[in-house]
Amino acid sequence: MNERIEVVFGDITKLEVDAIVNAANSKLLGGGGVDGAIHRAAGPGLLEECRSLGGCPTGEARITKGYRLAAKWVIHTVGPIWRGGAYCEDELLAKAYRNSLKLAEENRIKTIAFPAISTGAYGFPVERASLIAAAEISGFLEDNGSIEKVLLVCFSERAERCYLRALEESR
Ligand code: APR
Repeated sequence: MNERIEVVFGDITKLEVDAIVNAANSKLLGGGGVDGAIHRAAGPGLLEECRSLGGCPTGEARITKGYRLAAKWVIHTVGPIWRGGAYCEDELLAKAYRNSLKLAEENRIKTIAFPAISTGAYGFPVERASLIAAAEISGFLEDNGSIEKVLLVCFSERAERCYLRALEESR
């Protein structure tokens, strides 16, 4: 099962997978970080479709086409803002991964790439986030055989180390 999960280093917008996941905010109207990179690479059509979605609550996920991206789909999810850990941040982050995977399965997506949701502007500690991501994805793949490959895309060496370690621990 864990051969279906792989940690990679680089720019998620370049990946030729069925879907890439966007770490968005609840307005779904773009932003900085990976959200900004995805919108820049996808072009104006992505924002136009996002406008029709009417936002997305934290922990939930929405799907759009990928437009000029190599990926056919973009799954937009909203991770929690880290506020010290006493505001259900762990559960909301787990939900963001779980709901993104559910949406992928419903849309017969076979390969999907996640950024390190909430670990940038939203301040979620990357060690803690990586353990939640690895556990949630491993658990989902144990119960669902349709998704063939999940890429965890890291944009810093520190994140890559954390995600590799977290994946080892989830085996
Ligand atoms: N490819 C892969 N990962 C990336 C890329 C990229 N091109 N650009 C940034 N990242 C990484 C960051 O290094 C971080 O590890 O994505 C992770 C998530 O960071 P953010 O993009 O800041 O997302 P997040 O912490 O979830 O905050 C979301 O920031 O950009 C705004 O609109 C967004 O308001 C929302 C908030």
